[in-house]
Amino acid sequence: MPADAARTGRLGQLLQARQIIVVVGAGGVGKTTLSAALGVAAARQGRRALVLTVDPARRLANALGLRALDEDVQTLSIEQLRNAGCDAATPLDVAMLDVKRTFDRAVRRYASSAERAEAIMASPFYQTASTALAGSQEYMAMMRLYEVVTDGGYDVVILDTPPSAHALDFLDAPRRMIELFDSRSFRLLLRPFSAGGHVASGLFAPSSLMMRGLGRFTSVEAFHDLLGFFASFSETFDGFVDRARDVMALLRGAETSFLVISATDETSRDEGLFLASRLRDEQMEVAGWIVNRCSAADPACGADSAAIAATIAADVPEQSARTAIATAAATMAQLALADRDFATALETAIGGRCWTRRLPRRSDEPADLGELDALASMLLEPTP
Ligand SMILES: Nc1ncnc2c1ncn2[C@@H]1O[C@H](COP(=O)(O)OP(=O)(O)OP(=O)(O)O)[C@@H](O)[C@H]1O
Ligand SMILES: [Mg+2]
Repeated sequence: MPADAARTGRLGQLLQARQIIVVVGAGGVGKTTLSAALGVAAARQGRRALVLTVDPARRLANALGLRALDEDVQTLSIEQLRNAGCDAATPLDVAMLDVKRTFDRAVRRYASSAERAEAIMASPFYQTASTALAGSQEYMAMMRLYEVVTDGGYDVVILDTPPSAHALDFLDAPRRMIELFDSRSFRLLLRPFSAGGHVASGLFAPSSLMMRGLGRFTSVEAFHDLLGFFASFSETFDGFVDRARDVMALLRGAETSFLVISATDETSRDEGLFLASRLRDEQMEVAGWIVNRCSAADPACGADSAAIAATIAADVPEQSARTAIATAAATMAQLALADRDFATALETAIGGRCWTRRLPRRSDEPADLGELDALASMLLEPTP
């Protein structure tokens, strides 16, 4: 058993106890980075993990062995992880979840020719229909999650999510799909295709969605393809609505926990608090909150940096340089204290509803396996 498994903090316990960990938070707070670090932490614990990541920055994608536009699962072997300094007990799987392109790809697969596919996607109707199908991309992401959780053979799946504007879509996706596929107008729209028979008269009413769309449509054939696509889309996923309900049940179940990430600014804090309360309204468990990129993870750190700076300054002969060092140290200490106060206030706002964890701002962008491993070991440390 790896040494880390013996001294598990709350995050380590979570990785051991849950099958799904969903990482949510405002844009740019470190969701993708920390999802990858959680994967590395799981590998250290000997838990077979899959990280489903959204749109990783290029350097991070390279470090994880991911290629653009590729949804295949990549495996980081124990050897690769160990070469990067990570004391891994199992390999780590990583895959890209490209929610933006999933739908377009499905159109390309369905359309009878590449030209038709382009015509569908270029059409105003497609734009309108995609808005009507808002959340469908997220829905597909949820489908992928469901598949890997039920068939993938993983101990734990870590799901990175888009920035929180879309994270809410993510949450709403299964319900929206249920509503959409249950809605009368959608069934009416698809009826001629799914039945393969005659066209329902309601479709041709001047006010119908179809006719409004058709007015702006350049090619009737492409339009026909589009409706056919939606019909096949709804039929391909048999038990579509049931499956959406299964996904919701999975997210509410004891096997799933959500982790909120924020930085030390009001915007990401407020978005995080909003997300957490929405999740709780949905009876989903918010297990923890990571305050990322703190100037000082340890409250004593601010004072330390001032003391260190004073020691350095004592060795510097020029008075002006000594003053500059002292000023810089004072500013750093102030920032650290401000961050600490912010984190304390945030913990008060969270009010013990979940545990919190502060992570320091790393001087190097955590975009290689070694840096991810450093974050992983901090994540695994028992909370002070
Ligand atoms: N603890 C940290 N120390 C230093 N830099 C960090 C830390 N965590 C994340 N970063 C950096 O912050 C930037 C944003 O991180 P990341 O892409 O993981 O955020 P995100 O929440 O996934 O963003 P988005 O909402 O756009 O998907 C990246 O450059 C990343 O390297
Ligand atoms: Mg991201």
